[in-house]
Amino acid sequence: MKAKNKILVTSALPYANGPIHLGHLVEYIQTDIWVRFKKSTGNDVVYICADDAHGTPIMLKAKEQGISPETLITKMKKNHEKDFESFFINFDHYSSTNSEKNKELCEEIFLKLKKNKFISQKNISQFYDDQEKMFLPDRYIKGECPKCGAKEQYGDSCENCGATYSPTELKNPLSVLSNTKPKTKDTTHFFFNLKNFKDYLINWTAQNNLQPAIKNKLNEWLSDNLNDWDITRDAPYFGFNIPGEKDKFFYVWMDAPIGYIATLKEFSEKNKKFEDIWDNEDNGEIYHFIGKDIAYFHALFWPSILNGAGYRTPNGIFCHGFLTVDGKKMSKSRGTFIKASDYLKYLDPEFLRYYFASRLNDNIEDIDLNFDDLISKINSDLIGKLINLASRCSTFLEKNSNLMLSEQLDDAEQFKIFVKDIEKVKELYSDRKFSNAINKIMSMTDKANQYINEKKPWAVDDLNYVQKIATQGLNYFRTLVILLSPVMPDLLKHSEN
Ligand code: MSP
Ligand code: ZN
Repeated sequence: MKAKNKILVTSALPYANGPIHLGHLVEYIQTDIWVRFKKSTGNDVVYICADDAHGTPIMLKAKEQGISPETLITKMKKNHEKDFESFFINFDHYSSTNSEKNKELCEEIFLKLKKNKFISQKNISQFYDDQEKMFLPDRYIKGECPKCGAKEQYGDSCENCGATYSPTELKNPLSVLSNTKPKTKDTTHFFFNLKNFKDYLINWTAQNNLQPAIKNKLNEWLSDNLNDWDITRDAPYFGFNIPGEKDKFFYVWMDAPIGYIATLKEFSEKNKKFEDIWDNEDNGEIYHFIGKDIAYFHALFWPSILNGAGYRTPNGIFCHGFLTVDGKKMSKSRGTFIKASDYLKYLDPEFLRYYFASRLNDNIEDIDLNFDDLISKINSDLIGKLINLASRCSTFLEKNSNLMLSEQLDDAEQFKIFVKDIEKVKELYSDRKFSNAINKIMSMTDKANQYINEKKPWAVDDLNYVQKIATQGLNYFRTLVILLSPVMPDLLKHSEN
């Protein structure tokens, strides 16, 4: 017997400073569908994720609430896990980047990079808030855009003209935290020498399973000069200390992806499997599902860090687009920022899974959510077609044979033709072309309903014959529910009872 394919799958690690919202769920639902499909077709799949627990926003949020960051992230993790469970997101293990394992691994990887001469130290000058006694991340400084003069722009880029710049270029800068004028202060930071990896990345991009749009983006980045990457943050910071340094911490984007490895390690120690998957490409496949906003971190920094520290790299990175609500970016002020827990007060989680599946493809286009559209899709596809098929057939059975199925199908030849489409649906799931898979399943559902319409069991007197038609119809239904089960696992569970 052929050994099962080993596949490690991850979704991006959600920040522990806010609740899970419907935008996040695009990603976790997309990944979960693919994982369920791969598991159901005989692969050995492990799906992991974790809370991304470090960084300035989390530290400040805890301070604002008068609690420790540890208390905040523990509470948040519980909430996240509850939301994921409600939407049937089935992780094999869910951890936190603030774990002992992750700390060990970050130190190990940093020391390996240092030994391999991929780390350098540089003196830099950064904005410092004298009142808050801290260096200010780009997003905590506001001022006038150096290019177009627009007011109230963040320290990294201008929302008005799109210019990117360094915070010290802003005119009339102010600290967002204290509203005081920041001063510049010198500090020494560790940098990861991304420059050394240019040729490696060009090669890596060509060889791996990446979407064409992402490949293009990477080649664009790679045709420019790559800047070395600042992986240091000064105290106060909620994160891991850099080995041998007292007041210097790893930047959250350094320790977060390493969290993928640490989370798997925890899983492997407990379950005694996939122990060596990160060592060597022959040991299994690795895929990261992410949103297109974080492609830079996953497709440039991450493979370089892994390669520089002697680890294998992922086989593919699968990006999705952003969720918009009624055609617009989700926004708190417009009331289109919808938390997962709020959605659940009104609608069934599987409706959202079905809706996203019917919209998701292997590209990075944005996905729009419109609730009228969602309701009409559920009504026409699931209620009008799928559930209708089952309820019609069971009504005939009830009338004619006390719910007993017949031993034979009415038209076995037609059933054979029907099941031929299964292979196509499987191919579409495997390629992450979920919207095409749903279309195919719905056209199969139409065929099944058509069959009943043509046979007109309501006008037939022969009870045996009616029973055979209903039996065939219910077998169609069963096949369809199984085909939908990666998207709607709960429907399958209920149909089996
Ligand atoms: N913590 C980082 C990821 C670290 S991975 C080593 C992060 N967290 S996040 O909470 O902001 O986002 C988690 C995932 O959800 C990302 O892949 C992000 O692209 C995705 N989404 C967040 N908002 C989204 C939408 N509105 N629409 C679709 N996906 C979105 O990034
Ligand atoms: Zn501007």
